[in-house]
Amino acid sequence: MCGIFGYANYNVDRSRGQIIDTLVEGITKLEYRGYDSTGIGIDGENDFDESSPVKEITIYRQVGKVGQLKAEIIAHHPDISETFHNHVGVAHTRWATHGGVTQANCHPQPSDDHNQFIVVHNGIITNYRELKTFLKGEGYTFRSDTDTEVIAKLFKYYYDKDPDLEFYQLAKEVLYQLQGSYGLLVKSVRYPNEMIATRKGSPLLIGVKTEQKLKVDFVDVEFISDDKDGQSSTTSGGTLLTRPQKSTMAIRKSESRAILPDFSKPIEFFVSSDASSVVEHTKKVLFLEDDDIAHIDNGELHIHRARRSAGTSTTRPVHTLELQLAEIMKGGYDHFMLKEIFEQPDSTFNTMRGRVDFKNSNVTLGGIQEYLKTIRRSRRFQMIACGTSYHSCLAVRPLFEELIGVPVTVDLASDFLDRSPPIFRDDTCIFVSQSGETAETMLALRYCKSAGALTLGIVNTVGSSISRETDCGVHINAGPEIGVASTKAYTSQFIALVMLALQVSNNVIDNRKRHQEIINGLKDVPMLIGKVLKKSAQIKQICSKYLNGKESILVIGRGYQFASALEGALKIKEISYIHSEGVQAGELKHGVLALVDDKMPIITFATHDSLSPKVNSAIQEVTARDGRPIIICSEGETMIEKSKTSAIIEVPTTVDCLQGLVNIIILQLMSYYLSVEAGNNPDRPRNLAKSVTVE
Ligand code: F6R
Repeated sequence: MCGIFGYANYNVDRSRGQIIDTLVEGITKLEYRGYDSTGIGIDGENDFDESSPVKEITIYRQVGKVGQLKAEIIAHHPDISETFHNHVGVAHTRWATHGGVTQANCHPQPSDDHNQFIVVHNGIITNYRELKTFLKGEGYTFRSDTDTEVIAKLFKYYYDKDPDLEFYQLAKEVLYQLQGSYGLLVKSVRYPNEMIATRKGSPLLIGVKTEQKLKVDFVDVEFISDDKDGQSSTTSGGTLLTRPQKSTMAIRKSESRAILPDFSKPIEFFVSSDASSVVEHTKKVLFLEDDDIAHIDNGELHIHRARRSAGTSTTRPVHTLELQLAEIMKGGYDHFMLKEIFEQPDSTFNTMRGRVDFKNSNVTLGGIQEYLKTIRRSRRFQMIACGTSYHSCLAVRPLFEELIGVPVTVDLASDFLDRSPPIFRDDTCIFVSQSGETAETMLALRYCKSAGALTLGIVNTVGSSISRETDCGVHINAGPEIGVASTKAYTSQFIALVMLALQVSNNVIDNRKRHQEIINGLKDVPMLIGKVLKKSAQIKQICSKYLNGKESILVIGRGYQFASALEGALKIKEISYIHSEGVQAGELKHGVLALVDDKMPIITFATHDSLSPKVNSAIQEVTARDGRPIIICSEGETMIEKSKTSAIIEVPTTVDCLQGLVNIIILQLMSYYLSVEAGNNPDRPRNLAKSVTVE
């Protein structure tokens, strides 16, 4: 999705050049979230009007990557040495949802030709058509096809109605009209040196950099009420079309508190969709919740609520980011994806660190401890996720069924939402997500929560919406994943789920031997992955010889390796753009065999397990039709007729339920080499974004 970044400096001199650099650097780090087009909005050179010394807002926007935006700014830059003691700037990197990839659709979107209000937005406004019709009726002219433009124009509309409103009050009026999801930053000539940052369904955090000691570690939330008994009547939305005159602000009880003792000392705020662009500036961050309106105002930070919702916490703690800058750099690799593939010996180890006691064959996951009894009592496990995260659920389903002995359903979040299936109070619903922000997974989580089920998150991003909204959970601790194609998150999710199954089932005596076997296996996984990574040259060679430039590739697997086949095929298609299909080996004869001939490239997972005889039959079905598969098999395998294969890749053997962790590395590497060979950028596959925060 899109990435938004805002920077505000107060009581500290920053040249326009430094401000531009900070903004451009900020969105460069967010570029993996969207890379169709980019833009920034800062104070320009001229006064906005004669009556005040407020600077006009200058917008730079460009279709293409951030590098191109930089070139545009350099070509047309105003005086970059001009210094600002206080300043607010906003920036955006776009992944188009509404409107094509054009200059006019880039963000910031302005309210009018004089850029009185400018908005950068991540998300989708679902009622933008109605709002647009209304605003057109009010005489507004639209210059873009974006849903975001209505937000900028609504700010102007409400400002013109009541110029005495404070910026956050104005924001509240606007938000009341919006349906859909958003992370928004707003800057205005009408409110110089102020910024609004607000979210609903899209992540947003604020980094605070100051020499001062933070006086309190929380921010009180202001409650806004518009009737006498203090009950808010602003809990439901409405549209301008149906309720044009509705005012939501009669009486205000301002109890918000800013976080510093002295607002005249230097302070900088970094507002971002993602911690990766903040960590180089500060480690002190607070995460906004849905409906929070952060008002950054001349060195102060206040948080207000757009709506008063029952049960919402009234504090926003200041967190210290654990993230290290080095973790989000490429570290000598050509691409983040390659770096992340090669990090897996460490990332898988980190997932287990402090949780698996290899000596006593025991697993302890602190994040579920309190709920363990409830989880053990549940009558069903419902796993929900999208894409690669969904595949990690499929990879462990057989183990859950084996160890816990209750039904396990695994659903794609989008399909789950389409069906709205029955969920019961004694279900444990597991939500797996690298980003912790995926829209469908979030919506499914809310659905299951409202049905009274216990919700458990398996999430990589600390502080993300899913990690905050689930009752309990496990952080996979894989470290930041920047490459759009998920690699190390998959293996860490897989391990986190295995650990979950182990802990939940460790009260069953009959499981003891199997537990020991799996825990011994887990110990060796990082080392085995390291061994497979050493085969990268062989894999690259096999790709050149048999796969580069092909139109289609089949990936076959069965049992524990069915998930590997699906995940392998997804990796290939998303970054090499070669069509690829993951096939359950038993399904070949039910249709897919029709595709098999001597030209169709086929990769088969045939590592040794209880299903090996059946997999071998599938290989014979293929070779009998002149197919010459590339076989991924266990070291020393003798059952495979080598002369009827294109290539054989041997991998070290581990416990059956963990073998997928080793096998998938081969497909991750293959997809990477196929992508690079095709001239693609594997970190930024076309049409895809890292964190999909819209449905
Ligand atoms: C594929 C990939 C996607 C994500 C999916 C879910 O390589 O990365 O399929 O797995 O969009 O994202 P998360 O895990 O962030 O919920």
